[in-house]
Amino acid sequence: MSTLYKGISSLALTGEKFGDIQVIENAALAVENGKVIFAGPAHKAIACDETVDLGGKAVIPGFVDSHSHLIFAGERSEEFASRITGKPYAAGGIRTTVRATRAATDAELLANAKKLIGEFYESGITQFEIKSGYGLDVETELRSLKIASELTPHTTFLGAHVVPEGVERSDYLKSVTGEMLQAVKPYAKWIDVFCDQGAFSVDEAKEILEAGIAAGLKPRIHANQIANLGAVAMAVELDCASLDHATHLTAEDIAALSGSNTVVTLLPGAEFSTKSPYPDSRRLASAGITLAIATDCNPGSSFTTSMPFCIAVAVREMGLTPEQALWAATRGGAKALRTEGGSLDVGASADFVVLDAPSHLFLSYRPGVQLVSQTYIAGRRVFERQ
Ligand code: NIG
Ligand code: FE
Repeated sequence: MSTLYKGISSLALTGEKFGDIQVIENAALAVENGKVIFAGPAHKAIACDETVDLGGKAVIPGFVDSHSHLIFAGERSEEFASRITGKPYAAGGIRTTVRATRAATDAELLANAKKLIGEFYESGITQFEIKSGYGLDVETELRSLKIASELTPHTTFLGAHVVPEGVERSDYLKSVTGEMLQAVKPYAKWIDVFCDQGAFSVDEAKEILEAGIAAGLKPRIHANQIANLGAVAMAVELDCASLDHATHLTAEDIAALSGSNTVVTLLPGAEFSTKSPYPDSRRLASAGITLAIATDCNPGSSFTTSMPFCIAVAVREMGLTPEQALWAATRGGAKALRTEGGSLDVGASADFVVLDAPSHLFLSYRPGVQLVSQTYIAGRRVFERQ
């Protein structure tokens, strides 16, 4: 059964290179067996078994959220409020969520994550990564990753989020690189570490990532959010798929990233919610670094599931063009996960979003407005706004 979507006012297609967006006006998209079989001008469209008229809406590829922390319990709205009156964000807040997560049942953790995934669909996200990192003991990290692996193939072990309360640092490092890693590895594709002030040093992060790599996981890293501990050279040397946050960077860091395969993932919700300076993404883009945008959805530093919000902030506050931001939130996310996605090329999975707007520009032009009208994954509608 093939379906032709016509009445598309503007269709945004992503190219291979950072920021490469081709916009086709008066377009059509055809889908069969969950795959794109045509994407282009309406007058060239192929005949299909059925036709759906979208009545003049924009279509974009589904967003790929390469960085989220959906397995947790509780919330930290009071901590958020305290920042507005001047208290700086610190890694230690993670321990509050660890207490709540350990006390939650599997069913509660699953229900919370599913609710947030429903919100992802409402915001146009069609693929997403999920990290552990609020268990910080063998039992709860294992529970977290088992749940995450039921929800996405893109699972990440972040046992090295912070050292938990009441555990000696050296004992915890031994566990994260040993017993805990061995327990969770069947459920994790990636290994991540928070390499920053108040979390883990560069030497510790290297040891943790190398242990993960030896166990068959692939590396990615949270770094340079609060301070620059010198993580970039190490992350590039280990071929991390992505370095996330990247607010504090030297010229040498930028040079190392620009010659690497490491994507830099911008997390605009985190700077917004922690009242922190934004990374200079124009400097990154002009150095030829591939950028992704992700929600970083978590209860501490970025409790948003809205990719359009992140795009709007990236455009307004980080200086990306609307096209660079759209690319970063689609193809960039897929590159940060070293997977397919964020593309509507013929043969790609039909993951797409219908916007109640004439073009993708409206994502940043109309901030805070729910413009996602429908979200499709592999040709199946997972969200429709009433
Ligand atoms: O990506 N930076 C480290 N981890 C999360 C925040 C975790 C928290 O504060 O609960 C982040 O921003
Ligand atoms: Fe994060």
